Amino acid sequence: MASTLDQTLPADAWEVAGNPYLAGLYAPVGEERTDDGLEVIGELPPDLDGVYLRNGPNPQFAPSGRYHWFDGDGMVHAVRFHEGRASYRNRWVRTRGFVDEHTVGRPLWSGVIEPRADNPPDEHLRLKDTANTDLVWFRDRVHALWYLSGEAYALDALSLESLGADDFAGTLPCRMSAHAKVDERTGELLFFDYGPVRPYMRYGVIGPTGLVTHLVEIDLPGPRMPHDMAATEHHSILMDLPLVADMEAARQGRHKIVFDPSLAARFGVIPRRGAGDEIRWFEAEPCYVYHSINAWEDGDEVVLDLCRVNKPAPRADAAGPLARMLSYLRLDAQLYRYRFNMRTGAVSEGPLDDDNTEFPTMNLAMLGRPTRFAYAMRISPEPTLLFDGIVKYDTASGAQDRHWFGPGRWGSEAPFAARRGATSEDDGYLVSFVHDENLDRSEVVVLDAADLAAGPVARVLLPARVPLGFHATWVRGDQLP
Ligand SMILES: [Fe+2]
Repeated sequence: MASTLDQTLPADAWEVAGNPYLAGLYAPVGEERTDDGLEVIGELPPDLDGVYLRNGPNPQFAPSGRYHWFDGDGMVHAVRFHEGRASYRNRWVRTRGFVDEHTVGRPLWSGVIEPRADNPPDEHLRLKDTANTDLVWFRDRVHALWYLSGEAYALDALSLESLGADDFAGTLPCRMSAHAKVDERTGELLFFDYGPVRPYMRYGVIGPTGLVTHLVEIDLPGPRMPHDMAATEHHSILMDLPLVADMEAARQGRHKIVFDPSLAARFGVIPRRGAGDEIRWFEAEPCYVYHSINAWEDGDEVVLDLCRVNKPAPRADAAGPLARMLSYLRLDAQLYRYRFNMRTGAVSEGPLDDDNTEFPTMNLAMLGRPTRFAYAMRISPEPTLLFDGIVKYDTASGAQDRHWFGPGRWGSEAPFAARRGATSEDDGYLVSFVHDENLDRSEVVVLDAADLAAGPVARVLLPARVPLGFHATWVRGDQLP
């Protein structure tokens, strides 16, 4: 069943100036659908119970300026698994920007390459908060978050109905970046906010009742472009990395970034409810980090596993803003481990693998506690960002397990879905949207997390294409209201 928003444009209007992120696998879809009783190849395990949700950019209108893949309006695609059956739904996130543009029937903002806004509701908001980046389940709803720090747009996990910007009963006085973390054991949400003007970073905690219980300013030497954070049982880890905002551009309200390899990468460890000046900075080799995996305490040390980008510079042959964007998106990241000694201040760091993997996931119920397993997307050497397989890392033994999607088949961030009644860290499944270019068909593959190489235990065929996108999450059936 499909409904088309009346003001969207035909598909052939999208391919603007040969931008590959508006075409083919990335082309936005114009329909919001609800489809039950999907065809399954194989058998869906009866103990796979929950919802797989994935966010991503899906512009409502053909862009008015040069389009960056990060610019599109957030759209969530979800597959509900219950009693061996699957249903699909997709909805745009009704952000303020989406609604404003929908009302006038045309784009009011351009994007990060040439920020410009026509009559925006807030004159300082040169960029549209699209909520297109991340999804975080907290209390009884999913929050769609934005990588440049924005409002926390709440969604119903089953209907995908937009519930509006969540200000946590009026207790959140700032914005929230993508990649907030939930500690399921305490019921707390840990978050950060950052931006081009002082304070350049804030860090906060929202308690299990849904109210902000802690919020502090973090002193940084200037505007930074952090993308993620991490948390242990007692500490949070914030990042000051040498991919810095260009000061002149920041004064004009633009987000232009440059990598400065003369600066160290700094990791700030702060007690979960610590004051801003209690943060302890650890200096490491310059790098950039999009995504952390997990962190935990080990004696005097804080251990942090993540995917580390060694040199986040555009390739030398990249000419023009579009080429720069494309080459920045050619992620080259490796699984990496830091150890920060809280007693001596020493840092040890090193790679755990040399393959190019990113968009890592883990068993979210174990966030902040020691984990062994990480699941990361393997980045294909294609010119645009494509995932050709999933790698399961066992960081205790060094072993790996892999699933390749197959020729012309491209996956999506694959959250860990605990089996109902799970008894161990990897007792469950991985779920991933896969688009098959050969058949021009999208599906969801379900893999046994304990045996990726065995191939999918089931594949759910989808009634519509799911464009490639960003982050995903899994909401267990027992978490749903
Ligand atoms: Fe991200």
